[in-house]
Amino acid sequence: MNEILRTENLSVCFNGFWALRNVNLSVQEGELRVVIGPNGAGKTTLMDLITGRTKPTTGRIVFGGCDITGKKPYEIASLCGIGRKFQGPNLFENMTSADNLLLAAPRLNTVARTFFRSTPRAAQERAGKVLREIGLWEKRDKMACELSHGERQWLEIGMLMMQAPRLIILDEPTAGMTAEETRLTGEMIQKLLGSHTVLVVEHDMEFVRQVAQTVTVLHMGRILAEGPLEQIENDPRVAQVYLKSQGKGVRTSA
Ligand SMILES: Nc1ncnc2c1ncn2[C@@H]1O[C@H](COP(=O)(O)OP(=O)(O)OP(=O)(O)O)[C@@H](O)[C@H]1O
Ligand SMILES: [Mg+2]
Repeated sequence: MNEILRTENLSVCFNGFWALRNVNLSVQEGELRVVIGPNGAGKTTLMDLITGRTKPTTGRIVFGGCDITGKKPYEIASLCGIGRKFQGPNLFENMTSADNLLLAAPRLNTVARTFFRSTPRAAQERAGKVLREIGLWEKRDKMACELSHGERQWLEIGMLMMQAPRLIILDEPTAGMTAEETRLTGEMIQKLLGSHTVLVVEHDMEFVRQVAQTVTVLHMGRILAEGPLEQIENDPRVAQVYLKSQGKGVRTSA
C-alpha cells in the first residue's frame, strides 16, 4: 500500500498551551484508521490541522505526496480531495435527502470530478447510488429535518461520498446514535473502503471493535500508542488513560 497522508512533527500551540506535540502519523491508501483518546486529547485539533482549519505552529502535513501545510480549507477539500464530516450537523434542513446530495456534488471541473458531474443526469445517477449505499433510497424525498438523528448522520456521510474524496475524515460519526444505528454506520464505513481512505475519530469502543484495523491513541496532544486493535486493548498505558475511563476495561485476548 502507498502512504496517502503523513504528518511530520506536527505541533500546535494555542496561547501557550500545546494541544498537539510532535505528532507523526502515517496513513496508507485504502486504510481505515481510528483515532481514540480521552476528551481534550487533541483528536479534533488534529483533524482541524489536516483540513487546514487550524495552522500548525511547527511541522508538516503531506497528502498524496504534496506538502499541504498552510493551505486553505477549500484548497484541501476541493483540490486535494479531503472531505470532512464535523461533529455537529451540516445539512440543508428544508431540502430533500436527494437534493442535499445533489447540492454536495462537486462543481469543479477537475479530472476526478468530471466523471460524476459531466451531466446533471450523471450527478443524479450518482446521488441514486449514494442514497442506496447510505440506506436512504426510500427516504429520498423526505426533508432532511424529517430524518432521524442517525439518518441525518448518514446523509452527511453521503454528501461526502458525492464529492468522491480520496480521504474521508469523520469526527465521532456515531455520537448520539442507537446501538443499531451505530452498527449500520460501521457497515457503511467498511463499504467505503476500497474507493476511499477513512480517518475516523470515535469514542464508542463497540464501533471501534467493529471497524478498526489500526488504532492511534492520542493523549495530551501526543501519540501514546498505535497498532492493531488487540494490541491497543491490551496496552496498560491505554487502559490507564482511556479505556478504563470509558468503562469498557481492557479485553483479554481470549
Ligand atoms: N482554538 C483553540 N484555542 C484554544 N484551545 C483550543 C482550541 N482548540 C482546541 N483547544 C484545546 O485543545 C485541547 C484539545 O482539544 P480537542 O477538541 O482537539 O480535543 P478532542 O480530543 O477532540 O476532545 P473530545 O473527545 O472532547 O472531542 C483542549 O484542551 C482544547 O480546549
Ligand atoms: Mg473532538
